[in-house]
Amino acid sequence: MKPWPYPLWLAHRGAGKLAPENTLAAFRLGAGFGFRAFECDVKLSRDGEAFLLHDDTLERTTSGSGSPDSQDWSELARLDAGGWHSPAYAAEPLPRFAQIAAFCQANGCALNVEIKPCPGEEARTGAAVAREAARLWAGTLPPLLSSFKPEALAAARDAEPALPRALLLDELWDDWPEVAESLGVVAIVTNWRLMDRALIERLHGRGWRALVYTVNDADVAERLVADGIDGIITDAVDRLGPQEGRRP
Ligand code: G3P
Ligand code: MG
Repeated sequence: MKPWPYPLWLAHRGAGKLAPENTLAAFRLGAGFGFRAFECDVKLSRDGEAFLLHDDTLERTTSGSGSPDSQDWSELARLDAGGWHSPAYAAEPLPRFAQIAAFCQANGCALNVEIKPCPGEEARTGAAVAREAARLWAGTLPPLLSSFKPEALAAARDAEPALPRALLLDELWDDWPEVAESLGVVAIVTNWRLMDRALIERLHGRGWRALVYTVNDADVAERLVADGIDGIITDAVDRLGPQEGRRP
């Protein structure tokens, strides 16, 4: 297998349990706990701005409503993406993808960008996020682009073939190895419940790295590390991670 440049531990949604998910505040919090790699969800506004948001709608994590792909960035930029979490984070804005790139580069942090398209936006989002990532990270360690949506990864591959890609799996559907092969992935990222030593060895045998989400239990993490896992995405940034002394 080729050398793997990414840290073992990744903070999920930018450490988005103790701070509002997918905001710069969450990245700051995760970095404060020693994390040097993050996962976040990226989608597009109507006018094509790449920004961080998990859901297909704005209600749960912002002061807005409706679908983000039917609003321009100038409208989305005014929303409160922190007050839903706790008063201390009120008025925290939705971050542009470019701001997260700047934060990661300034702090020596790696990034796993989950391409999280609004429904029907798979190809447009995959291509745009890849192009923006290539521009923002030119000459530095690129982010790992991942997605549950093969169509988004195919568009990312066609737009920027040199960027590393990973297929996300919440279940091992029938022809996932063939799809992963055709997408030219470097890694498979599964729900941790699917991952065991046999699967890790199978992935490694095909030259793919093995990562998992979202591990918040120390015993599970320890078992996966013993099995040879390459990356662990966690919410539990105060209990698990690089400061725990497992490996940087
Ligand atoms: O990228 C791994 C993980 O974030 C996938 O699940 O729903 O938290 O985006 P979700
Ligand atoms: Mg995600």
